[in-house]
Amino acid sequence: MPRKIMVAGNWKMRNTVEESVALASQIAQGLTRRDLEVLLCPGFLALEPVALSLSNGPVLVGGQNLYWQDQGAYTGEVSGPQLKAAGASHVLVAHSERRQHFGESEKTAALRVQAALRAGLRPLLCVGETQAERQADQTQGVLESQLSGALAGLAASACDRLILAYEPVWAIGTGLTATDQQANDAHAFIRAWLAGRFDKAVANSVRILYGGSVKPANAAGILNQPEVDGVLVGGASLSAQSFLAIIQAA
Ligand code: 13P
Repeated sequence: MPRKIMVAGNWKMRNTVEESVALASQIAQGLTRRDLEVLLCPGFLALEPVALSLSNGPVLVGGQNLYWQDQGAYTGEVSGPQLKAAGASHVLVAHSERRQHFGESEKTAALRVQAALRAGLRPLLCVGETQAERQADQTQGVLESQLSGALAGLAASACDRLILAYEPVWAIGTGLTATDQQANDAHAFIRAWLAGRFDKAVANSVRILYGGSVKPANAAGILNQPEVDGVLVGGASLSAQSFLAIIQAA
């Protein structure tokens, strides 16, 4: 079965609740494609209002992070069951900004993946190398250690709920995009890794999104790559016009 394309928007720490609901409704109203999945990841406060405003339509809603305990005395954290009850179907895990600014590790990524699955959410695990790592020819080694750490202990049967995002850190918010070929090569490496760690069926079915300065102008080239199953968009998902243009390019 062909892998269904996903176009996801990560709004990061942007937009008030009101702005988020307005943007989500502009996107939902402008959406004409039904052959792909569209996911919006607003900030926590806006998640439930956005999910409620979209509840009769095809647009999906996801969290940007979750804590790995299901409940308890963990001031300031948000759990998988809370996200699920608020209307989320997906959750980003270990985005590079979480790794960079909040000290997240492979170990905590693995706990978050497990917590997401336990809550009935689809984890969208982010991996990717820094510029220094790419220049030192360490891209594959970095991807390998991020994947093996975050997916430690995961059964092949759980992988039907797993989505991966290759987000080279040097391309996030910088205007630098991986070339179509660089993206495809990294995705092919990840897929081969999945085949070795799990099996061919898992490798063929898990979707791998690309993220990093995706814009309307470069989306078609990236999305046309055989190993690229969608995009995870930051800056260009903050305007309905540019996000819908990226969807149209798919
Ligand atoms: P930009 O599209 O702004 O580079 O952000 C990408 C990203 O981090 C998506 O999660």
